[in-house]
Amino acid sequence: MYTQKVMEHFENPQNVGEIADANGIGEVGNAKCGDIMKMFLKIENGIIVDAKFKTYGCASAIATSSIATELIKGQPIEKALELSNKAVVDALGGLPTHKIHCSVLAEQAIKAALADYYTRQGVDPTLFVGEIHEDCDHCTSCGE
Ligand code: FES
Repeated sequence: MYTQKVMEHFENPQNVGEIADANGIGEVGNAKCGDIMKMFLKIENGIIVDAKFKTYGCASAIATSSIATELIKGQPIEKALELSNKAVVDALGGLPTHKIHCSVLAEQAIKAALADYYTRQGVDPTLFVGEIHEDCDHCTSCGE
């Protein structure tokens, strides 16, 4: 059911925890399954120098959080904004169809953290981040 890559990141997740001096924090939840993802970003000179997460949820939610933080660490904000849930799924070698919504949660958690970062800078986040679907209700692939 799960790829080797998903199992690797589920059994040995990277970047778990909090960043004490994070300057971008975002939390999103899935109203259907109750899973919650909290993302902490440390951004310096437009670069994401550190990313950590706390996820209360399924194996896919943990694996997608783990690989998503790996994909954005060391990258400019612009790259993180471009990170789609499809890119996260591809990096994991795929997810079962009914677990695709878990990768949406990771994408939205990063966007929520970046929105918080922009707000702290006194910048309207919607100009850069756009709309955040916090409860994942738009996702029709969730069978749970
Ligand atoms: Fe809810 Fe995976 S995020 S089941």
